[in-house]
Amino acid sequence: MQAKFITVEGGEGVGKSSNIAFILSYLKNKNLDVVSTREPGGTELSEKIRDLLLDAKNKSMISDAELLLMFAARAQHIAELIKPSLAQNKWVLCDRFTDATYAYQGGGRGIPMQRIAVLEDWVQGDLRPDLTILLDLPIEIGRQRASERSEPDRIEQEKNHFFEAVRQCYLQMAADFPERYRVIDASQTLEQVQKDIAVVLDEYFQTCQKQ
Ligand code: TMP
Repeated sequence: MQAKFITVEGGEGVGKSSNIAFILSYLKNKNLDVVSTREPGGTELSEKIRDLLLDAKNKSMISDAELLLMFAARAQHIAELIKPSLAQNKWVLCDRFTDATYAYQGGGRGIPMQRIAVLEDWVQGDLRPDLTILLDLPIEIGRQRASERSEPDRIEQEKNHFFEAVRQCYLQMAADFPERYRVIDASQTLEQVQKDIAVVLDEYFQTCQKQ
């Protein structure tokens, strides 16, 4: 079976880490070679860019600088890790990818989607995720969960209307790309969320095997 590129998306506090760990073990149980990575980040240089992006001290960062740094980190990540892994037939499981740029820099910051699409084509060529799992949660619950974890980073310090726009943008993308997106109700218990993810992955594998 041809290796696939799977992304996991969602707002703050939706439970990405524990669910990514669950997806990783699901894939490994299928004896697949899997690379688990994240954005912004995933390579030494991209992780340095992540630090710049999330450092709460960088309050003066303008939206265009934020957008371009996201894509700078992504360009490096694709060249150094994602494309070589897929070429070696390794599955790539990525915690966020370009849909996060549409949601946060597009929906949240208000940068025109067309401008993001130009960068997407430039940096990625025809690379797009094969499957995107969106963990969806009302923002009040997500923000409450996230605030219990750690000090908010630069982006987590944004206001509710920013995160509401992020959520709506994700839901819109899920509606626009139903063949690629699967939406999971992340307000359920972790056990139920993981049951739902397993159903999605079982179905996805059946489709892959038919191809
Ligand atoms: P997280 O990995 O802990 O969720 O933190 C990454 C933060 O970066 C999160 O607030 C979402 C944000 N982000 C963007 O704003 N645009 C992007 O393209 C990506 C990948 C992440």
